[in-house]
Amino acid sequence: MLVAPSVLSADFGKLAGEVQAICDAGCDLVHVDVMDGHFVPNLTIGPVVVESIAKASTKPLDIHLMVQNNTFFVELFAPLKPAYISFHLEEEKHPHRLIQKIKSYGIKASVVLNPNTLPEEVEFLIEDLDMVLLMSVNPGFGGQSFIPSVLKKARRLKKMRDVLNPNCLIEVDGGVNEKNVLELKEAGVDVVVAGSYVFKHDSYKKAVDSLRV
Ligand code: DX5
Ligand code: ZN
Repeated sequence: MLVAPSVLSADFGKLAGEVQAICDAGCDLVHVDVMDGHFVPNLTIGPVVVESIAKASTKPLDIHLMVQNNTFFVELFAPLKPAYISFHLEEEKHPHRLIQKIKSYGIKASVVLNPNTLPEEVEFLIEDLDMVLLMSVNPGFGGQSFIPSVLKKARRLKKMRDVLNPNCLIEVDGGVNEKNVLELKEAGVDVVVAGSYVFKHDSYKKAVDSLRV
């Protein structure tokens, strides 16, 4: 299992140190939640702060857009060269076009599905995708409870992925901890995002290690 701590739950008063600490703890990706106050009822960070995160990080960035105008935000963040940019399918009329745009910058493209969006929605996109991110909470906040139906969704997506594009990773975000990570692994999930679980832990290394099942 690859582990991507979400800096949303970090102490923003000492952000660079927090990012270095999760990298030193051995995480694989640094998950960055960008919220615009429209697609979700919360506002987070823009390119100035994400640039500081990129400078402090020794690991690739995994940017999760929770915004209305995806194209604008992709253009804003592309110069920071994240490994992945994920956008919500519920908010995109022309997903193939946006996937091509993300890839044109040399960035891996990923689509996010809210908890009530069917996995079959990505059937005609998956051959072009590097990752599908399944939300296991309604997006907007850290520290919410895991919605278990994501396990069924991951199993359905894995079947589709194995046939159509075995290189496409499956990531799950929201309420992930050491108690549900094994079920996620068994359902075919490749990457977990964990915010409050990692940052509330006494030892970031122990937290990351406990998710590496
Ligand atoms: C929620 C964000 C998540 C969040 C996860 O909208 O996309 O990445 O930070 O936090 P936890 O792990 O606390 O649910
Ligand atoms: Zn996220």
